[in-house]
Amino acid sequence: MELELLQSTKAETAPKSTKLSTAGKTLIFTTGGVAVGLSIVCIPFVSPALRRICLPYVPATTEQLAGVTKALANRSGRLLDVGSGDGRIVFTAAKLGFKADGVELNPWLVYYSRIAALLNPAYRDTKFYRRNLWTFDLKPYDNIVIFGVEQMMNEFENKLLQEAKNDTVVVACRFPLPNMTPIETIGHGVDTVWKYVVRKNTQ
Ligand SMILES: C[S@@+](CC[C@H](N)C(=O)[O-])C[C@H]1O[C@@H](n2cnc3c(N)ncnc32)[C@H](O)[C@@H]1O
Ligand SMILES: *[C@@H]1O[C@H](CO)[C@@H](O)[C@H](O)[C@H]1NC(C)=O
Ligand SMILES: *[C@@H]1O[C@H](CO)[C@@H](O)[C@H](O)[C@H]1NC(C)=O
Repeated sequence: MELELLQSTKAETAPKSTKLSTAGKTLIFTTGGVAVGLSIVCIPFVSPALRRICLPYVPATTEQLAGVTKALANRSGRLLDVGSGDGRIVFTAAKLGFKADGVELNPWLVYYSRIAALLNPAYRDTKFYRRNLWTFDLKPYDNIVIFGVEQMMNEFENKLLQEAKNDTVVVACRFPLPNMTPIETIGHGVDTVWKYVVRKNTQ
């Protein structure tokens, strides 16, 4: 069952297979082969309703990174990348001056990100948590970036509305939040990035 889901997700991401394998090679190179097959690692969500849904490791494209950068224009403070992969969004944000963190379930990707952070002084203030996103508190963050899968966006939107602070900017890559209205849409196709602002009403 999980395999079927993985296959359908992979079929959908087919145009990006070249980038995927390049990233895979980089990881295999840097981790001495331990990361073989990382791109097909399939981690089921712990959230009961979505136990069978896979969030595969698909790194953000250059276009998506540019879209995220644009969506974060004039923003500052703390930033979280939810499912931070190899850390590329966290590192992009660090270069933009954010105090940027990543939360990621796959330990190899967390180790890879931590090592990359140690090797570059510009990434000194980044932090990578090896944690499940569904039990990770979003409250401290002024900016939240998510590149997930379609099936999780509704539940993630609920989590955001419960936890995120008023005025928090949310940037979704590839798959939009199903109910919130974006204040900006950047790029197109698989590289689309949506920008939202969390608005809380006073009682
Ligand atoms: C589509 S990738 C995006 C990676 C990165 N944000 C980027 O844009 O390059 C999604 C990431 O979420 C991670 N992930 C999947 N389920 C997770 C969970 N329950 N908690 C934290 N991370 C998870 C996967 O391991 C994968 O690295
Ligand atoms: C960011 O600030 C600059 C300078 O005040 C302004 O020209 C620009 O329009 C702003 N961009 C956004 C996306 O708000
Ligand atoms: C949320 O922020 C907006 C804009 O900054 C403000 O108008 C509104 O009163 C705030 N809501 C709460 C509950 O603080």
